[in-house]
Amino acid sequence: MRSFTAIFSIAAVAFAGLTSAAPVDTSAVSGAVNTVKGVVSNVPVVGGVAKDLSIRADAPRGVQEILIDVQTKITPLTQQIQFCTVENATVEILTPIVQTLTSTLEEIVPELQALVGQPIEVILASVTGTAQLTVAEVATLVANILTLVFGALGTVSTLLKGEVSAILPILAPLGAAVGHLLQAVLAAVGSVVGGLLAAVTGLVQNLVPTLLTLNLQEVLQILGL
Ligand SMILES: *[C@@H]1O[C@H](CO)[C@@H](O)[C@H](O)[C@H]1NC(C)=O
Repeated sequence: MRSFTAIFSIAAVAFAGLTSAAPVDTSAVSGAVNTVKGVVSNVPVVGGVAKDLSIRADAPRGVQEILIDVQTKITPLTQQIQFCTVENATVEILTPIVQTLTSTLEEIVPELQALVGQPIEVILASVTGTAQLTVAEVATLVANILTLVFGALGTVSTLLKGEVSAILPILAPLGAAVGHLLQAVLAAVGSVVGGLLAAVTGLVQNLVPTLLTLNLQEVLQILGL
């Protein structure tokens, strides 16, 4: 969501045009505010204000909004994994949780892939609407997701002890899902600015032992670890 000031100033421009033509009622106000939510900064508002606004209402979510959404969705799942005990850290209990985690990650991949070709203002749109997202900020979001997933799995793998091999079959699809997510973020951000991979790699060195233990070669390869 953009900052209120940005929404207000753009809405004000829209109303400057509207008021001369017709009285403004409240439904028009809320409609216009909803419409401008998708507006990105630096897009010139020239002629046909209403038309421009309706186009930009379709502006896709940026990387930040998508990754925050992912993090929100996976946190309860990773917590269930994280807080397993010796008693319930079993393949039976872990399988549905890991599968839901996997599908949650896979589901977001097409939206990230679709960002390639969008302008930098869309891809790096800030949810606060104040400034464009930096590469370091994207890297932190990505590292947070990797840490949630593999931090939890690292913890549970110590409980499984000799039985880690039993969960490897359910971890392979999860590793693939994380790989797809990573590739999609790297492609989207990499289409407008460089340096994300190095920034992410720098933040997740501590996950290497877990990734090795869990045999997640694909993730290691993508991260160049
Ligand atoms: C495992 O057991 C702990 C302690 O009873 C409980 O807090 C946790 O919710 C359980 N986790 C699952 C996934 O059943």
